[in-house]
Amino acid sequence: MTDNAHTHEDTADSSQTRRRFLTAATSAVGIGGVAGVAVPFLGSWNPSEKAKAAGAPVRADISKLEPGQMVVIEWRGKPVYVLRRTPEQVAGLASLNDDLKDPESQSSAQPDYIAGDGRALNEEYLVIVGLCTHLGCAPKFRPEVGAADLGGDEWLGGFFCPCHGSKFDLAGRVYKGVPASANLEIPPYTFENDTVLVIGVDAEVA
Ligand code: FES
Repeated sequence: MTDNAHTHEDTADSSQTRRRFLTAATSAVGIGGVAGVAVPFLGSWNPSEKAKAAGAPVRADISKLEPGQMVVIEWRGKPVYVLRRTPEQVAGLASLNDDLKDPESQSSAQPDYIAGDGRALNEEYLVIVGLCTHLGCAPKFRPEVGAADLGGDEWLGGFFCPCHGSKFDLAGRVYKGVPASANLEIPPYTFENDTVLVIGVDAEVA
């Protein structure tokens, strides 16, 4: 096969193949009583060599995610929770630090470019792997402030793992006094622009 023939074949097949693959790889499911938002696939995607080596990235449109709403996006077989936090939810995080095991995420898995109480590139969007750091159950999104079964007035919203009762705040940080010992993992991710999130590719931070 000549170089020209290969190029032609690749061009003819690639957009369909990519579309099929990404449709299968990207799903959105609402949990915790909050309606899910479909995350449509936008355009084509050409991962870099580095990204291919680390596994296929997933690209998702988050423009329809309302404040306070969360979607689940599958990435490399794992559920990734994407929560658009309200200003009140972000503001409440610092007040919880004394109740948490690892408030600064010193012993928790997250990329180097993630820091602070919010554990996010953009404070408005939390992106975490939805697998409990105890034994891997899927924590439930429990945003209701003051939920009686999760500590009443102390509870500012977060995630609750029903398997053995681990609790996490709205940055995925684990509370003291529960079986899990590490915060929920943050995957590598970046924003392609204001509305497109890419999971599986590291952000370039100057
Ligand atoms: S798996 Fe979540 S508390 Fe045990």
